[in-house]
Amino acid sequence: MEGFDPATSFGPEVSRRYDKSVRGDEDDTVRFLAGLAADGSALEFAIGTGRIAIPLAQQGIRVDGIELSPDMIGRLRERPGGNEIDVTIGDMSSATGPADEYSLVYLVYNTIYNLLTQDGQVRCFENAASHLTATGVFVVEAGVPSAWLRGNQFVNVERLSAGEVILDVNRYDPLTQILDENHVSFTDDGVRLGPISCRLIWPAEMDLMARIAGLELRDRWGGWNGEPFTASSERHISVYARR
Ligand SMILES: C[S@@+](CC[C@H](N)C(=O)[O-])C[C@H]1O[C@@H](n2cnc3c(N)ncnc32)[C@H](O)[C@@H]1O
Repeated sequence: MEGFDPATSFGPEVSRRYDKSVRGDEDDTVRFLAGLAADGSALEFAIGTGRIAIPLAQQGIRVDGIELSPDMIGRLRERPGGNEIDVTIGDMSSATGPADEYSLVYLVYNTIYNLLTQDGQVRCFENAASHLTATGVFVVEAGVPSAWLRGNQFVNVERLSAGEVILDVNRYDPLTQILDENHVSFTDDGVRLGPISCRLIWPAEMDLMARIAGLELRDRWGGWNGEPFTASSERHISVYARR
C-alpha cells in the first residue's frame, strides 16, 4: 500500500492501544499451546505485548519471543510477568531466538500474513523448523482467505454506534495475494487511520511452505478447542512437525 511501512505499523500508538481490545480466545489458545509444549519450552514468533506469551509462561513453561517492534516489546515489559520473558528484537523470518531449540514454536493471530512476500513466508517456516527439537512442533493460526474476501474491493462495518463508526476498507490484489486494509475510525474526536498490508496464504500453500522447510502437517483444526476444520471454517490452527 502506498505510504505503508511494515516496520512502523506496530509503533507507539498501536502498541499503546493494543491490549485495550482483547480478542477473547486467550484462555483456549494457552490451553492448546500448553498441551503441545508439555514440559518443554516455547518460542513465540511476533510475540507482541505478550497477550499469549505471558499467560502461557504462567503455566510454568519457559516462553521466549522474537519481535520486530520495540514499542510492542516496551508494552510487554510494562505488564506483570513481561520482564521475565526473553525476547530477540528482529524479523521472525531470519532472527535467532534466545535459545537453540524449543519443543514448540508458534505464530498466531494471522501474523504470518505480516510478511509481505512468499519468499519471506517460506523463510519464516524455515526459521521455525531450525528452532525445533526433533519432536517439536510449529503451530500457525491464520484466517482462511476465502472467508475474508468479498471480491477485490470491499468495506466491512466493524463497529457502528451513535458515537463511533469503524470501517475496514480493503483492496485485494490476486496477483501478489496482498490485502491492503485501512481501519478507519470516526468519532467525535476526529478520524483515525489504521493501515496494514498482509500477504494472504491459503492452507494448501502453507503446507507447501512447510514442506520446503522440511516439515509436514500433523493436525489442522478449525478452532483452539479441537473443532474440525471444514469447508466453512473461517480460520485454521495448523500443527507442523518434522517430516
Ligand atoms: C497482530 S500482532 C500479534 C501479537 C501477538 N502474537 C498476539 O497474538 O497478540 C502482530 C505482531 O507481529 C509483529 N511483527 C510483524 N512483522 C514481524 C516480523 N517480520 N518479525 C517479527 N515480528 C513481526 C508486530 O510488531 C506485532 O507485534
